[in-house]
Amino acid sequence: MKRVVSIICITCFVLAFGSCYYDKADVLYPTNTICDTTGTLSYAVKIVPLFQQQCYGCHTGSAPSGNVLMGTYAADRAVAISGRLYGSVSQVAGYSFMPKGGIKMSKCQLASIKKWIDSGTPNN
Ligand code: HEC
Repeated sequence: MKRVVSIICITCFVLAFGSCYYDKADVLYPTNTICDTTGTLSYAVKIVPLFQQQCYGCHTGSAPSGNVLMGTYAADRAVAISGRLYGSVSQVAGYSFMPKGGIKMSKCQLASIKKWIDSGTPNN
């Protein structure tokens, strides 16, 4: 009887902990993460919405966080060409990691930002 109980316990344990899988979209659905950064990448269409969701909440207005102003093309560009934008979102040592207190951007989002910067931060 004891043996049956311990087998049941082991089974429950395996079921309970076996179900804690690593649920990251990139890992679970690799085909969804084929990142298309070919062609023209539009600042207005691709980049601004990302910043709106993840950055402008803290970095706009009269007293932006860390004194880093974003929210207009000129301001976003200035942060980008300073190197601090990509350093902080790609979370390179030496920069303050952004979005602060949030989840690191996906590889595809980072690739889009990098492409925008590498192509000369166009206002397109
Ligand atoms: C919850 C508020 C908050 C959010 C959201 C946020 N930031 Fe920040 N950011 C800060 C604060 C506060 C600082 C000042 C440094 C510090 O306290 O870490 C800062 C600093 C920075 C810096 C300077 C980093 C350095 O090391 O020089 C950059 C660049 C930056 N943020 C860009 C961004 C970008 C891009 C996003 C969106 C992906 C973002 N932030 C989202 C609050 C925020």
